[in-house]
Amino acid sequence: MATSESIKINLSNGIVKDELLVIGLASTNEKGGIAIEAGDFALDSKTLIATLSDMGATGKADEVIRIPGIAVRVMVFTGLGKKVPSYSHETLRRAAGAAARSIAGTSSATFALPVPNIAAVGAIAEGAGLGAYSFTQFRASTKADHKLPLGAITVYTTLAEKSEAKAAAKRAMVIAKYTHLARDLINMPPSHLTPDSFTKILKTAVKSAGGTKSGLRISILNETQLKAQGFGGIIGVGQGSANPPRLLHISYTPPKPKKRFAFVGKGITFDTGGLALKPALGMEAMKSDMSGAAAVCAATIAIAALKLPIAIETWAPLAENMVSDKATRPSDVITIFGGKTVEVLNPDAEGRLVLADGLMKAQKSKNKLDGIIDVATLTGAQVVALGTRTSAVMTNNDEFQNQFLEAAADSGENFWPMPLPEELRASLDSPVADLANIGERMGGMLVAGLFLRDFVNPELPWLHLDIAGPAYNQTKAHGYTPVGGTGIALRSLLVLVENSSVR
Ligand code: BES
Ligand code: MN
Ligand code: ZN
Repeated sequence: MATSESIKINLSNGIVKDELLVIGLASTNEKGGIAIEAGDFALDSKTLIATLSDMGATGKADEVIRIPGIAVRVMVFTGLGKKVPSYSHETLRRAAGAAARSIAGTSSATFALPVPNIAAVGAIAEGAGLGAYSFTQFRASTKADHKLPLGAITVYTTLAEKSEAKAAAKRAMVIAKYTHLARDLINMPPSHLTPDSFTKILKTAVKSAGGTKSGLRISILNETQLKAQGFGGIIGVGQGSANPPRLLHISYTPPKPKKRFAFVGKGITFDTGGLALKPALGMEAMKSDMSGAAAVCAATIAIAALKLPIAIETWAPLAENMVSDKATRPSDVITIFGGKTVEVLNPDAEGRLVLADGLMKAQKSKNKLDGIIDVATLTGAQVVALGTRTSAVMTNNDEFQNQFLEAAADSGENFWPMPLPEELRASLDSPVADLANIGERMGGMLVAGLFLRDFVNPELPWLHLDIAGPAYNQTKAHGYTPVGGTGIALRSLLVLVENSSVR
C-alpha cells in the first residue's frame, strides 16, 4: 500500500507562523560574494550576510545552511546559484526542493524565495512539495531513526490572495502527491509489488481521487483473459513467474474532451533478465523496471485531479520477468496482440514485448486518438548514451515531439531527441518470425525504438520515452530529487496535456 501522506501547500503574506523560514541565497561573484534573495519577505540582510560569509556560505545550488533565526526560530538558506535578475522555474524548484529535503523532521516551514509572478510561486511550491518525500514504510526497528518528510509548506508572496496563485498552489500539491505515488510504487520491493498488487494500489488511488465522479475508470485483465484475448507479449514475459501478469487500463474522460491521448507504460515489477539472467551485481535496481507504468498511471490521475479537458487512455502491461521451467526460451516465438509474431532471441529484451501488446491494444480504442506515448525503462543503452539525468524521446512525428520537448523543458525534466535510423531496422529481421526482439547491439536504444515503431500506425503521432537512467536515482539526492524512484516523465506528460488544453 502506498503510504505517502499528501502534503499541504499554502500561500501567505502575513506574519510567519512556522518555526522555520527558508530563504534564497545567491552568489554574486567568484570571490565568495553572496546576496540574500528573500522575495517579498522584508529582511535586513546586512548582519545576516556577514554571519553567512563567516560560515562559508556560497549560495551554490544544493547548498543548504541553517542558522538561528531572527523573528523565527531557524533560518534555512538555500542556494540559488549565480545571482540573476530573474531565476528560472527549475532553479526555484531545485532550491526549494533541496531545502525541503534538508528540513525533514519539521512539520511546517515558510518559503521566502524570489516570487516575481504566479509561475514562480507555483515553481517554489512544486519544488518544495517534490522534495518533501521519504520512503520509510518498510522500516520497523529503524523507523525512529528516519525523519518524516516536511508536512506543510507555505510560500511567502504578496500574490497570496490571487485566485491564480491559489490554483498554482493546488496544482503543485497535485503534482507532489502523484509524483509521490509514482515514487512509492517504484521504491516498493518486488516482494510486495507484484502485477496484481500494482493494480490494487491503483484501484485505491483511482477511488480516492473520486473514481467515476472524476471521470476515471479502471479495469484489469488477468492472466486467463490475457491468454484468451491473445496478449502473447505480456503472457510470454510473465509466464515464468509465480506472480501472474496483468493489463491495467485507466481512462480519464472529461465532459467535453478537446483531444485524446493514449499512454502506455512498461510495468515489469522485477526484471531478472529471464533465461538471459542478469548479473547479480546491480540486479536489485530492476525493481524500478515498472517506472514507466508508475509514471503514466500517476500522471493520468493527476490530470483528472486537475480536471484538464483532454481524454486519456492509459495502459500498463504488468509482468514479472523471472527464471523458471515455464519461462520463455531464447528462440521461442510469441504472437503479439493483433497477430504479429516475434522471435524472442533474448528474454531480457522483455519491455518491448509487453509494450507491443500495450501499444496494439491502445490503438484499438473506439475513439480516435490524437497521439500515443509510451514510457519505459527500456535499455541500458539509454543510460550509456545520455547518463542518469537525461531521458530520450523518439518519434514518428517531429511536431508532436517538439510539443513534448517544450513541455518537458517547462516542467524541468531533461529529455533529448534521438533518431530512429532506417538502416538499423533490418537488424530486427528474424529468420523464422515477423521480427526478432533484438537487433544490432550498437545503438541499442534506437533499435528498441524501431522495434516499437513496428507496432504503431505510421499515421498516428507517437512518442517513445526511454527513461532507463533517470527513473531511479542510485547515487545522491539533489534538488527535489530523492534517492530511489524519481517519478520522471509524469510532469512532462502533465504539462503536455495542459498545453494541449489551451491550444
Ligand atoms: N530493464 C532493462 C533496461 C534497463 C537497464 C533499465 C538499466 C534500467 C537500467 C531492459 O529490460 C533490458 O534488460 N534491456 C536490455 C536489452 C538488450 C537485451 C537488447 C539491455 O539494455 O541490456
Ligand atoms: Mn530486461
Ligand atoms: Zn526490463
